[in-house]
Amino acid sequence: MEPKVLLKMKNIHKSFPGVHALKSVDFELRAGEVHAILGENGAGKSTLIKVLGGIYTPDEGEIYIEGKKVEIKDVVTAQKCGIAIIHQELVLVPYMTVGENIFLGREPMKGKFVDRKKLHEEAQKLLDAYGMDIDARTMVGKLTIAKQQMVEIIKAISCQSKILVMDEPTSSISDKEVSFLFNTMRTLTAKGVGIIYISHKMSELDEICDRVTVMRDGSYIATEVVKETTKDRLISMMVGRDLKNYYTRDYANQGEVILKCENISDNHMVKGASFELRKGEILGFAGLVGAGRSELMKCIFGLTKNYTGDIYLDGKKVNIKSPTEAMRHGIALVPEDRKHEGLYLIQSVKFNTTIEVLKEFIKFIHVNKNKEEEITQRYIDMMATKTPSTKQLVGKLSGGNQQKIMIGRWLATSPKILILDEPTRGVDVGAKSEIYAIINKLAKEGMSIILISSELPEIINMSDRVYVMRDGKVMGCLGHEEVTQEKIMKLAAR
Ligand SMILES: Nc1ncnc2c1ncn2[C@@H]1O[C@H](COP(=O)(O)OP(=O)(O)OP(=O)(O)O)[C@@H](O)[C@H]1O
Ligand SMILES: [Mg+2]
Repeated sequence: MEPKVLLKMKNIHKSFPGVHALKSVDFELRAGEVHAILGENGAGKSTLIKVLGGIYTPDEGEIYIEGKKVEIKDVVTAQKCGIAIIHQELVLVPYMTVGENIFLGREPMKGKFVDRKKLHEEAQKLLDAYGMDIDARTMVGKLTIAKQQMVEIIKAISCQSKILVMDEPTSSISDKEVSFLFNTMRTLTAKGVGIIYISHKMSELDEICDRVTVMRDGSYIATEVVKETTKDRLISMMVGRDLKNYYTRDYANQGEVILKCENISDNHMVKGASFELRKGEILGFAGLVGAGRSELMKCIFGLTKNYTGDIYLDGKKVNIKSPTEAMRHGIALVPEDRKHEGLYLIQSVKFNTTIEVLKEFIKFIHVNKNKEEEITQRYIDMMATKTPSTKQLVGKLSGGNQQKIMIGRWLATSPKILILDEPTRGVDVGAKSEIYAIINKLAKEGMSIILISSELPEIINMSDRVYVMRDGKVMGCLGHEEVTQEKIMKLAAR
């Protein structure tokens, strides 16, 4: 029997000023399948999804739902067509409760008023039915990103959608939540729902996806059955070439200790952590979500003011009370949550790249426009960032390219110590490989790098030494000759 086709997109075109984001893209989704879309940062994945969701009108092309041609001119029409989308950037309303978000726009009424009691009861039933440990009356803004993601999923499920789209749903959630998400997805496909799944994690393909469509530079490349293809084949279709040395790492003799932290606590997540960083070293920090890695770095970068314990830079005890001071000491931190901790989405690429350098040096140097342009261009080239110009608003770049801008901004401060918190999250395989090469080069030139990552292969292949944290403490340190996934997990797990 022919599988039932839920959705067909044909010859879709979409342009933005200076960018031809979609060039004749075809896509098909069947009932009961999980269909992945693969492509580099800026390939057009999210744009295709936004066309489907009625957020963008295509310049050309047709969309068919179960064989019938439809005109998806807005978000409401998309919902009526049975399409639910979990976008890459979460769109929940932070100052409303979980329940209110789930039923937004279709609240149960009692006469003229919203029946808030019923609304929260219904929402709680849904949350409980899917085993989610979330109270329907909590304000969404108080939840972790992972939990907000779960609320988005429940919201999508509760609309009884036939077509569910997930744009990088696992980029910020823990392993446990990922397996939970996959189970939920399997329950849905068994009921005949079709799921479109976008992710940069190649390992997830085998685990959850049936077919995969590859896009490159806004064009459709191919659709393959996951079981019948290989990772290498998909990667070369994605990046248009073979990726040979995925990780670049030249181990060298390390210099002297440049940063030493003793018994650091923040009265919250960090509980007496100690470690040492050497000149020219890449120091990995592994651990489960919540182990306190990001919080420890926040103490060092002056974001957490009332920490206890001692920090020594070049053997001298320092008391870092603000990020400005940390920067004066040559420390830079690229945070994990780029949207909330740093990017100015309605400002240009240039503004976002140069803001930290200018903030620090504006008193000393005469800022000339050419210099600004030159710095920005240098980091666009270095990171291979895809943007039509230095004037483009950062909010209009694809997710992965926003991440590159953030890394560029901190590199521009020429730090001695660079702290990278999940630097490759949401970044495509080609760009990841480029970032590894850049980190390696910087370390070779004498920069000391702290690499926090949840991707163990990344930590293992890039680090000179790996510290493993658990419950706010450093549990052990593994050298690059001895480190393995098993050894890390043994130290990381409770
Ligand atoms: N609203 C917009 N205005 C201008 N350009 C845009 C807009 N939205 C997307 N683009 C551009 O269209 C191209 C495709 O972007 P899109 O977000 O679809 O990429 P993506 O494949 O989802 O990438 P990522 O993996 O980084 O999320 C990019 O060059 C991006 O800069
Ligand atoms: Mg995207």
